[in-house]
Amino acid sequence: MIKVGIIGVGTVGTSVVNILKDNQEIISARAGDEIVVKSGVVRDLSKDRGLDIILTDNADDILDDPEIDVVVELMGGVEDAFVVVKRALENGKAVVTANKALLAYHRYELQDMAGDLPFEYEASVAGGIPIINALRDGLSANHIKSIMGIMNGTCNYMLTKMINEGVAFDAILKEAQELGYAEADPTFDIGGFDAAHKLLILASIAYGIDAKPEDILIEGIQNVTQDDIAFAKEFGYSVKLLGIAKRVKNEVELRVHVALIDNSEMIAKIDGVMNGISVVGDKVGETLYYGPGAGGDATASAVIANIIDIARSGKSKPMLGFDKPLEKGLKLKPIDDIESKYYLRINVSDKAGVLSKITTIFATNNISIETILQRPSKDGSANLLISTHIAVEKDIQNMIKSIEELDFVNSKPVMIRIV
Ligand code: NAP
Ligand code: HSE
Repeated sequence: MIKVGIIGVGTVGTSVVNILKDNQEIISARAGDEIVVKSGVVRDLSKDRGLDIILTDNADDILDDPEIDVVVELMGGVEDAFVVVKRALENGKAVVTANKALLAYHRYELQDMAGDLPFEYEASVAGGIPIINALRDGLSANHIKSIMGIMNGTCNYMLTKMINEGVAFDAILKEAQELGYAEADPTFDIGGFDAAHKLLILASIAYGIDAKPEDILIEGIQNVTQDDIAFAKEFGYSVKLLGIAKRVKNEVELRVHVALIDNSEMIAKIDGVMNGISVVGDKVGETLYYGPGAGGDATASAVIANIIDIARSGKSKPMLGFDKPLEKGLKLKPIDDIESKYYLRINVSDKAGVLSKITTIFATNNISIETILQRPSKDGSANLLISTHIAVEKDIQNMIKSIEELDFVNSKPVMIRIV
């Protein structure tokens, strides 16, 4: 019998307990052993969770329990979770976690600490999709050219509702929270940080890049407006929050931001809480992974798969697979050097000479305009909607700074990259 202790019995932890019970027979058959949750840790013992496991508010009850074989960390956060996981490993326990924030900051230390102890983290990226398994094992014969996709269910759910139903940002965020998709602090979702944590995990497996969130470009969905959505619809684009890891020569660019994607692309069609990630290997070509990116049961499905794997393979398989730089000289590309096409919305006073001054600033920053439209606003101002050919990030940022200073520009220009 494999005995499990769960630290954090909230949305995902509760699903883990319930699925282990509901699917007990098939899980035991696949694991070759019975998997039993002995106890769980919560903060608030007074909440009725309808579960028949022992609950405690002291993690030591699990960490120091010699009967517990596998510690499942589902409490979230970074430093407290790190202390808990570290102690679990020191006490010789196998660990399973769904905590991408923890791994974004401490994955290499944890890998060193784990040594030969099993440490699994499938649910940390893209909820129920077995993307870690695919990248770490299934594609291990390849140089990875790119990883690109929708890695946050909350944001995709929100953007889908904003685009298809015009629902207001705050109302739809509340809904995503009620459905158990959002992080305890939803700023991690809407600010792009959660997707960045996941991207960093994937980049460590694919490229051995040991970067932290502070090192990469992270932008969220907070500034997406119905004006931008209308432009996207008119020009045949979908609006998505993307995580992108792309190898160009000896550099890897890592970035998370809202993107306009041509509606003919597969990723443009992925809606709601679904995630979709494309991984291109030099030998296999493009592979696509699609499925529910958040939610209790979908995530618990991945957590339990890890527990089953541990039950099957015993306590001797080093599992993390975070490489150190795989090839000599491979390094993170500076954000300033990223190249993309861009969409800009610039709100200006509608008067003579405005357009020519704006286009001159584009030209002096080496930015070539692809399309330009002027749309009147209700308040008498005008929105200039501009798309560019491929340009360099630092030129775009310099151009935005210059444009912001013009007296006929009413607010900071909105910029969205076109992928
Ligand atoms: P949650 O619903 O907020 O549950 C967190 C649980 O941990 C709660 O039971 C909470 O206790 C307990 N907890 C929090 N801090 C604690 C502490 N310091 N000591 C002891 N217990 C503590 O979160 P969740 O949605 O289940 O997510 C759990 C983890 O899975 C997070 O790392 C999250 O990023 C990750 N994840 C979530 C999803 C998803 O769709 N929800 C998907 C993939 C990965 P109380 O109940 O008493 O407050
Ligand atoms: N909050 C995360 C999301 C949970 O919405 O994608 C899954 O990692």
